[in-house]
Amino acid sequence: MKTLEDLKRIREEAQQTLKIRLDTGTTITVGMGTCGIAAGARDTMRAILDELAGRDIDAHVATVGCIGMCAREPLVDIQQANQPRVTYGNVLPAMVPRLIEEHLIRGAVIEEWVVGRIEPAVQG
Ligand code: FES
Repeated sequence: MKTLEDLKRIREEAQQTLKIRLDTGTTITVGMGTCGIAAGARDTMRAILDELAGRDIDAHVATVGCIGMCAREPLVDIQQANQPRVTYGNVLPAMVPRLIEEHLIRGAVIEEWVVGRIEPAVQG
């Protein structure tokens, strides 16, 4: 059984790890082309901003006109330094809390939602 102190320490460590990951640059990009908006990208964007604000996470959120896969909109792309750039497809607002929790907080890619991935450049 963990004491309250243990839990506090674990929480602080997790926050520190997240802070380090975010400090190295996290960008979340939402496709806002016509088809993205038609598929509900505005609501997805709002859900992402709400989730980040609610968890006090400081990540850069950007929009692009078109990511290029109409059928998989809304598309959300997460890029972190030294991590693969991962694009998730058909991201509805209800999926956002899990996305933030697993990808940003725990650093675990949600494989079943992935539509594309670019590995980080290998340093030579
Ligand atoms: S117009 Fe649909 S992905 Fe660009």
